[in-house]
Amino acid sequence: MFERQLEYIRSVTDFVPDTAIVLGSGCGEFANTVDVVASVDYKDIEGFPVSTAPGHNGRFIFGYAGGCRVAVMDGRVHLYEGYTPQECVMPIRLLKLMGCKNVIFTNASGGINKELEVGDFMLLKDHISCFVPSPLIGENDDSFGVRFPDMSKPYDGELNKLIMQSAKENGISVKSGVYAQLTGPQFETPAEIKMLSTLGADAVGMSTVIEVIAARHCNMKVAVISLIANLACGILDKPLTADEINETGEEKKADLIKLLTETLRKM
Ligand code: HPA
Repeated sequence: MFERQLEYIRSVTDFVPDTAIVLGSGCGEFANTVDVVASVDYKDIEGFPVSTAPGHNGRFIFGYAGGCRVAVMDGRVHLYEGYTPQECVMPIRLLKLMGCKNVIFTNASGGINKELEVGDFMLLKDHISCFVPSPLIGENDDSFGVRFPDMSKPYDGELNKLIMQSAKENGISVKSGVYAQLTGPQFETPAEIKMLSTLGADAVGMSTVIEVIAARHCNMKVAVISLIANLACGILDKPLTADEINETGEEKKADLIKLLTETLRKM
């Protein structure tokens, strides 16, 4: 399957990216800043999952950003769309086969730790995969990685340093913390947020951890920038809506573009 998928991409472009940028909910605007060489819709790739979440376009964009050769995932796929963990990480494995050595993920999350404010960016220092099946379950593909991959350092220290430096130089608030992935699509209950807080999670979302696991399995260097789009359920006494998440994404899009572009410039 991957061979035919790669063959199709190569029939569109022979561009070889170094770094993948995965754009999450409310983070799509970066795609418009890329100096585009080619783009490929997910729906045209055989056996490929197609994004159905609002604001997720569902295409790869190849080109230049911050002086780097990038492949942008303009929209990801989530477990709550009905895809299996293996399907959700298919794009990551294809990015590896295309030549990507690094991947910077973005996402939106709900802040659990009281030190986090809406509109902050949180750089992941670790994660908790919570009731989410591993994408590595099933027969191991040894060409990607080993059966039992180490997860003691999922996040690349050097990449995180570059992101922090870029944030400081541009006056952007970036904190660091632990992200927990649940499946969604329902938001959490107050008791679930209390549980996640007790477990050591600083923020919660519905994506990314399974993709990080797949990326580390095939030895890509990984960083994740999470936009704290809202405070998690039960922290404020009001219901959560997806609109609130998109509004924060809209407000912070310029900062995210700056952060990604300046980080790429340092790579
Ligand atoms: N919970 C889960 N996923 C999210 C949230 C949240 O509060 N905010 C953005 N994505």
